[in-house]
Amino acid sequence: MASVHLSFCQLAGNRPPSHRSRRLPVRCADDRQALFNRIAPVYDNLNDLLSLGQHRVWKRMAVSWSGAKVGDNVLDLCCGSGDLAFLMSEKVGPTGKVIGLDFSKEQLLIAASRQHSRPKACYKNIKWVEGDALNLPFSDSYFDAVTIGYGLRNVVDKQKAMKEMYRVLRPGSKVSVLDFNKSTNPFTASFQEWVIDTVVVPAATGFGLAKEYRYLNSSIQEFLTGKELEKLALETGFSNARYFEVGGGLMGNLVATR
Ligand SMILES: C[S@@+](CC[C@H](N)C(=O)[O-])C[C@H]1O[C@@H](n2cnc3c(N)ncnc32)[C@H](O)[C@@H]1O
Repeated sequence: MASVHLSFCQLAGNRPPSHRSRRLPVRCADDRQALFNRIAPVYDNLNDLLSLGQHRVWKRMAVSWSGAKVGDNVLDLCCGSGDLAFLMSEKVGPTGKVIGLDFSKEQLLIAASRQHSRPKACYKNIKWVEGDALNLPFSDSYFDAVTIGYGLRNVVDKQKAMKEMYRVLRPGSKVSVLDFNKSTNPFTASFQEWVIDTVVVPAATGFGLAKEYRYLNSSIQEFLTGKELEKLALETGFSNARYFEVGGGLMGNLVATR
């Protein structure tokens, strides 16, 4: 599978920067790629610590919503160190195929080493591909299901990413998009911001990664609400789109059917 050249640089979204995004150094695809390379060594530990292990539950839900079943050919986009790809692998079993795609080489190296150190036979069905979510190296209607966990918020062009997911999905199949929820409830939104500022960033500081995690709040503010995600999916051409809040409204999952 060919890897994709990634030397583009594009401002994140068209909106004027908010007071938070002004202190945000992460502005283009190359910056983001570098950021995810830097946090790769501690990414899994921090996820467990910061969500008290809950991200595993949300990821299982996301996989189940994707509709993946035994023997399917599936894609985990922005796979990082592979959590969702491993769960997809268990779903589709040894007769199925999983591709985990990411543009961070460091994340993919960790995913591959986790794959080798895990004994489950089905994990042999996973291939890691270095590539760009905005220009997928797969033919049309290639996959039976797609997952993307905490990835859509991080790509520089969400519309293009949705179009690419739509293109590579077989008609009738689903994409499951797990991410932070941009809540329209002021209490939930303030609580989420407070947790990130007072728990997540200080914890990341302990790993020397405060700057890298400070982008979280602004990336959520610049993300789409559940309703906006449903609208984006329908405008992209998906026939059905539903958004579910999870984790007390801190997280959300869009399920769209091609
Ligand atoms: C927050 S991590 C999520 C990793 C994993 N899905 C999880 O849930 O733990 C976001 C991932 O998206 C990847 N990413 C961001 N933009 C991308 C793009 N345009 N193409 C491919 N990967 C991208 C990053 O490299 C990073 O590994």
